[in-house]
Amino acid sequence: MKVGFFDSGRGGLCILDAFRRLCPQAQTEYIADSRHCPYGNRPPGEIRRLSDACVRRLLARGCGMVVVACNTATAAAIDWLRAKYAGVPFVGVEPAVKPAALRSKTGVIAVLATAGTFSGRLYNETRERCAKGVRVIAATADEFVDLVERGETEGAEAEAAVRARIEPLLEAGADRIVLGCTHFPHLKGTIEKIAAGRAEVIDPSEAVARQAKRIWEGMAK
Ligand code: DGL
Repeated sequence: MKVGFFDSGRGGLCILDAFRRLCPQAQTEYIADSRHCPYGNRPPGEIRRLSDACVRRLLARGCGMVVVACNTATAAAIDWLRAKYAGVPFVGVEPAVKPAALRSKTGVIAVLATAGTFSGRLYNETRERCAKGVRVIAATADEFVDLVERGETEGAEAEAAVRARIEPLLEAGADRIVLGCTHFPHLKGTIEKIAAGRAEVIDPSEAVARQAKRIWEGMAK
């Protein structure tokens, strides 16, 4: 049984790579919907329609489960996809607010995600439930998506863009930076270089891949 992954572009490859490390024997399919990238500022109905098209392509390729390797698509579409494709397990990704809030010493955390993710139910419920008493700075960084799609993840251009976004968060006291968009782990090296000694960068790719592994193993039995 193949495992399908999709994202608006190259972002979700960080989850696919983590899954392949955990399950090297699994067969996988990946759809990068680059024609419609970015998803971040599109209305939820449009993201549902685009996600649906990706899912149909993955199912047509023989996938028996789908990893929505995009925070924005998870926020707008995962409930809807689960209802529409009742027999298909879906794994989604949402900003790792809980571990960040639990580990913060300053009581300030920053979440980097798209506008679509910030307006979704999942993010808002998790923040309400898991970040009580913690100041959560919600920041978008749409230019990071463009950098990653162009393969500019290191070097002067990437560093300048990352510094411009990250410095204000560090100055505001954030000691945990949550990568709430699957494009952003591709810039993790650059983000960590700038945040070094001041903030820990939290990347959920591994945790999502572990969840996908659990479901995949359960289905293989
Ligand atoms: N990779 C997507 C996410 O995780 C966002 C990128 C986009 O705006 O298309 O939210």
